[in-house]
Amino acid sequence: MPVTPPHLVLGIESSCDEMAAALVRGGDEIVASTIRAQVEVHEPYGGVVPELASRDHLRGVVPVVEAALCEAGIVAEELTAVAATAGPGLVGSLLVGLSFGKALAYRLEVPFVGVHHLEGHLVSAELADPRLERPYIGLVVSGGHTALYRIEDEDTPPRLLGETRDDAVGEAFDKVAKLLGLPFPGGPALSRAAEKGDPAAVDLPRPLSQSPGYEFSYSGLKTAVLHEVERRRPLGDGDVADLAASFEAAATDVLVARARRALREEGMGRLAVVGGVAANARLRAEMGRAAERDGFLAVFPPAAFCTDNAVMVAAAGARMLSRGVRHDLDLEAFSRLPLGESAAGRAR
Ligand code: KG4
Ligand code: ZN
Repeated sequence: MPVTPPHLVLGIESSCDEMAAALVRGGDEIVASTIRAQVEVHEPYGGVVPELASRDHLRGVVPVVEAALCEAGIVAEELTAVAATAGPGLVGSLLVGLSFGKALAYRLEVPFVGVHHLEGHLVSAELADPRLERPYIGLVVSGGHTALYRIEDEDTPPRLLGETRDDAVGEAFDKVAKLLGLPFPGGPALSRAAEKGDPAAVDLPRPLSQSPGYEFSYSGLKTAVLHEVERRRPLGDGDVADLAASFEAAATDVLVARARRALREEGMGRLAVVGGVAANARLRAEMGRAAERDGFLAVFPPAAFCTDNAVMVAAAGARMLSRGVRHDLDLEAFSRLPLGESAAGRAR
């Protein structure tokens, strides 16, 4: 019997303000990873401007894919499949990576798959630690999502346990950073400022952390910070550090409390924490402490693979290909796409 060589998959991610390309061989060997961020594009506006993001992706897609191929020392003809994020995200941004990926697959006559962005984030945790077997609890914490899922085996759709009623936790980090006069992107800047502050300086609410169910709410916490900012104006460096540390403690305490509750009530011993906010050092440390205390496995991807990247898209794509999934080249992009619902299934 001839042995089929392992897939060499090109992954493309462009759901928000990062254009990224990566090559993954055999489902888990990272061969190349390139990212083009757009900090200077959005910095003057203090947030991502969708129209500017997609325009910059048009300039970035070819150089980013070429850089990934160059890093791996291969030519496009060696690819055996192409995967691109199909949703959820900003449609204008998604369309650039998705259309380019489909066109390349067409030209190379190789299979194409459209990947769910959150499935990609979850696969980055599975890549990080092979002990993270399904089923497990998935805590997705990013700029657009804050949700707890029960992740079942690959043939069963994940079950949403609960999500945020209002702001996503990353969005709250970004908005509070702006209130404190910290630079864009806000989440990492706030986390750096918090290192010099006292997390107990301001007594902030931990919304819903003790309530039944698995919903989250971050808008009240943000408003509580705003009131404290107004009370203390003008803010000195010490105020900024204390407010940043107190907000970070409140925001992450809620995530730890909700995840522990889900693990306990679902009778589960494994947790994946994924998405941009999973890069947060305090969240990693506090969840790690809870894991030791309660005796569960908490898996975080390496910090560089918590924020948007294309390795997660290539790896999630490789898993889909190995299950026999192939998508037609008329696959659309979706701004909203529940986890577990495939973009291809939606289009029909
Ligand atoms: O997953 P991601 O790159 O994009 C989305 O899919 O949304 O997440 C971006 C979010 C932003 O809100 C960013 O401020 C936040 O993740 N973030 C952080 C940190 N690094 C990124 N939040 C807190 N601490 C960090 N170190
Ligand atoms: Zn993301």
